[in-house]
Amino acid sequence: MADVSFEKDILPLFTETDIDHMNDQGVMLSDYDYMKEPDNAADVLRTLEEGSMPPTWGGGGGAWSEDKVALFRSWVEGGYKP
Ligand code: HEM
Repeated sequence: MADVSFEKDILPLFTETDIDHMNDQGVMLSDYDYMKEPDNAADVLRTLEEGSMPPTWGGGGGAWSEDKVALFRSWVEGGYKP
């Protein structure tokens, strides 16, 4: 998908639980300036691809569908558009 936007397409994928709990771990899922850093985005993408995040416990809801992971991957490959 072309022109995937962080604010419009990616941010809504994260729940308040995801954001709050991961902020505590130093992973700022809702912070564009953090997420647009290629190393940070790659780390997040890896956990989504592996299915290790979000976890099934702690209100995480378990691994994302392949569609959601693919959308996140498109955002990375599209150059981290705001
Ligand atoms: C660099 C990427 C990530 C790292 C290193 C990471 C690391 C962790 C760790 C270490 C925990 C366990 C905390 C504990 O033991 O209390 C955790 C929990 C959790 N993570 Fe992640 N995570 C990443 C990405 C994500 C993503 C992308 C999501 C959501 C889409 C997510 C959602 C959650 C949730 C909901 C929990 C459960 C929190 C709880 O109940 O304590 N994480 N994460």
